[in-house]
Amino acid sequence: MQGTESKAFDIAWVREQFPSLKLQVGGHDAAFLDGPAGTQVPKQVIDAIRNYFVSANANMYGAFLTSRRNDETILAARAAMADFFNCHSNEVVFGQNMTTITFALARAIGRDLKPGDEIVVTTLDHDANVAPWRALEEKGVVVRQVDIYEADCTLDLHDLKRKISSNTKLVAVGYASNMVGTINPVAEITKLAHAAGALMFIDAVHYAPHGLIDVKALDCDFLVCSPYKFFGPHMGTLYGKREHLEKFKPYKVRPATNTSPECWETGTQVQELIAGIAAAVDYIAELGRHCDPSVKSRRAALQAAYRATHRYETGLLTRLTAGLQTIPGMRIFGITDAKRFDERCSTLSFRLGDHNPTKIAAFLGERGIFTWDGNFYALNLSERLGVEQHGGVLRVGLVHYNTAEEVDRLLAALREFASR
Ligand SMILES: Cc1ncc(COP(=O)(O)O)c(C=O)c1O
Repeated sequence: MQGTESKAFDIAWVREQFPSLKLQVGGHDAAFLDGPAGTQVPKQVIDAIRNYFVSANANMYGAFLTSRRNDETILAARAAMADFFNCHSNEVVFGQNMTTITFALARAIGRDLKPGDEIVVTTLDHDANVAPWRALEEKGVVVRQVDIYEADCTLDLHDLKRKISSNTKLVAVGYASNMVGTINPVAEITKLAHAAGALMFIDAVHYAPHGLIDVKALDCDFLVCSPYKFFGPHMGTLYGKREHLEKFKPYKVRPATNTSPECWETGTQVQELIAGIAAAVDYIAELGRHCDPSVKSRRAALQAAYRATHRYETGLLTRLTAGLQTIPGMRIFGITDAKRFDERCSTLSFRLGDHNPTKIAAFLGERGIFTWDGNFYALNLSERLGVEQHGGVLRVGLVHYNTAEEVDRLLAALREFASR
């Protein structure tokens, strides 16, 4: 751990960075509790995208000023994501979103697989970390799915160990659940995958706004996340170990480079948004420096930011959980014991009696409180918990720009809804 935080979490400074947080809905301040579906963006990201259009808007590798600026923008974004992942710049791939990247990667990895080869997926995961691997069943690949413990929505690691074998070629696990917030022991699972000779693919989309990613420490082979979930624009990013990005062959057009990582970036990228990705990483680093002015490098600043936001979000989660538990008919899915909050992030799903989650979301929405209802594409989990045919769950996502006052407003509105 570097440095020491000298200040309490400066929520006023944080909120000042996000222009959209000033939105009003029918006389209410908007409360953005919808972060797991996409976070708001700070002005640094908005400015970077605008500046790209003003001064660097051109395609790649041209012999003129704006094209050179474009190339510098992409390189700077790769360097920012390398700090974010803790990897080398040429291990960073940009793409449309996590789902598109994962389908493309699975298809490329699938070229080397034969009937009877196995892939392990989980019941806890978003379908974007299931369907791309299941698509390889068409080639005779066998997909084995790891179950959960229903009581706390954690992965059944005994089942996972049973399902990994010498036939396993890849293990695909989420870092954190986008429905119930469970954080999986991905470093431990990576060791199990590697011991069996399998590759480890981590979906860190939901984890990225809540915790520092360190692909070196995890030793995973691939890791994906989407900047629009961590205060950036709507895109996806992939970390791949250099040896794998060079070995596997992406589907691509012939004139495009064969050099990695660019060979994985199909067609013209949304370059203005790549400019925004660098700004999102720099915003988190700026927050880290604001929390701990002693940090030196961008990576150390990112560490400081996540240390501070983790503490802050855990405080909000504790307040939310304690408040929800006083509402009659409340059923929270996942870990509710505050002593175990290190095993989860501040995304929480529940059902309230027999009420349809869509109705609750609409009631809250009218009061300016933005939440989500349904299955959020975590289809296996929604089915496993028996809620899929009843409208799924109501999801509240807390990130570092949310406040205790917003949590209290949500609780008051839910009490009002429950007592009607
Ligand atoms: C955990 C998780 N994985 C994957 C995805 C898909 O990401 P994308 O929208 O970038 O394809 C999401 C989106 O909600 C998610 O929450």
